Amino acid sequence: MNLINRLRRMRSDDFSRALMRENRLHTDDLILPLFIMEGDAKSEQIDSMPGVERLSLDLMLKKVEQAHKLNINSIVLFPVVDAALKSDKAEESFNDNGLVQRAVREIKKEFNNIGVITDIALDPYTIHGQDGLVDKNGYVLNDQTVDVLIQQAISHANAGADVVAPSDMMDGRIGAIRNALEQENFKNTKILSYAAKYASSFYGPFRDAVGSKNNLGKSNKETYQMDPANSDEAFHEVEQDILEGADMVMIKPAGLYLDIISKIKEHFMKPTLAYQVSGEYAMLKAASKNNWLNEKDSVLESLLSIKRAGADGILTYYAIDAASWIKDQN
Ligand code: PBG
Repeated sequence: MNLINRLRRMRSDDFSRALMRENRLHTDDLILPLFIMEGDAKSEQIDSMPGVERLSLDLMLKKVEQAHKLNINSIVLFPVVDAALKSDKAEESFNDNGLVQRAVREIKKEFNNIGVITDIALDPYTIHGQDGLVDKNGYVLNDQTVDVLIQQAISHANAGADVVAPSDMMDGRIGAIRNALEQENFKNTKILSYAAKYASSFYGPFRDAVGSKNNLGKSNKETYQMDPANSDEAFHEVEQDILEGADMVMIKPAGLYLDIISKIKEHFMKPTLAYQVSGEYAMLKAASKNNWLNEKDSVLESLLSIKRAGADGILTYYAIDAASWIKDQN
């Protein structure tokens, strides 16, 4: 054959493949989620997330240092709250001496250039494991929940959090939190909104990790998180949150929702993050442990795909592994 265009021509050499490579994963793209708990020198394995542990604050600092050395500059904190501190009204969420608040202060004391992101939602603090306050029928109350989320956000900002990240999916919470932050003079405290968060089955291992699974029981979060069948709604959620003052928006989960990431980034051109959630981690880990997948190659491919779809940053439990693999490649 005499072919003018052979698409394989550019794929035939290392240098030409490198020249045309459009996306590269960088440690600046990675955000490390950490599960924290009370205690001293304590760590606990999470059965459904091999390789991820719940850490007491001293060990958390060591983990942050390890991440920092690998040039990961952003972390997100998720608390494992003692059962005795859970309540119907989730008051522990805005305790200025609570676990998250102390963790933020300790990280800020030790490291001056780590971005600390905190989760704003009530599920670690409620007896029923829902992200908000409920009425007598178990319905999650929007406006009453937002009142508590505001207090939680202010308490985190006060402890030194750089970014508050509402993951609760209540209506109007971004505007309410922005307003409160401005009033309290936290002008540069950023809001990362979990704008399009789906009622996904892939959060199971996370609920194991923070210990909210049994509290939630057979209930679900379908009256506030989005239906996996929908994409129009994602636009409305993101648009609202941007109008209300979100500095960054997030799509969650990531790998099964690449179409949403892509459309949202293209349409709104806002800083757009994606969360490779616990179930995505568990799938990759389980297949790798069985030698059914090559862990490094498949994890890096999964992260690159999320980036190619349009994500500016990725929350992933693989952040530390990925950062060390990227380093080896350079
Ligand atoms: C709770 C919250 C969840 C996750 C992050 N924040 C779970 C949920 O909505 O039930 C899930 C993260 C993961 O699965 O890795 N507000």
